[in-house]
Amino acid sequence: MDRNDQKLRICVCPGSFDPITNGHVDIIDRASKLFDKVIVAVLNNGNKRPEFTIEERLEFLECVFKGRPEIEIDSFSGLLVDFVRKKNASIIVRGLRAVSDFEYELQMAHLNKTLEPSIETLFIMTKISYSYLSSSIVRELARNGGSIDGLVPDCIKDKVLERLSPKNR
Ligand code: PNS
Repeated sequence: MDRNDQKLRICVCPGSFDPITNGHVDIIDRASKLFDKVIVAVLNNGNKRPEFTIEERLEFLECVFKGRPEIEIDSFSGLLVDFVRKKNASIIVRGLRAVSDFEYELQMAHLNKTLEPSIETLFIMTKISYSYLSSSIVRELARNGGSIDGLVPDCIKDKVLERLSPKNR
């Protein structure tokens, strides 16, 4: 049986989540309406040096999606397609904010499709109100004393500010 014929439709939402933003939450919530199960996969040991450790980023996600059995939190290192295969998933979900995201996302989708033809990438357009939002914008605001209200989930806001706020550095 092909992975795509499985009854349980599983998708993987991969990312650095450094930290998770409300833009990510919106995409994951919307993916959870389309799939039986969503696996949020946090990249460990990627090229970027993250501000938050893998344990912290996983803890943030656990807190945000507590009480949501259809959303599983996990981490991965190495190739995304290997992780997707290991989880018996068939779809990678990514959010698209603007045309500027498209070139990188297209390259990644083509590469993943070449590596594993049975895995599809599905793009969900970010809500307009989050179209400018990114983890790096959140870090930048927090480092410079700006408000991150409404940009990250409430349950992680204080932890992000505690780490990055100029008052605490
Ligand atoms: O949140 P990000 O940093 O935009 O997420 C990027 C991510 C983690 C999806 C991407 O870097 C990734 O899949 N890395 C794992 C290594 C891999 O499979 N590379 C080939 C596809 S680019």
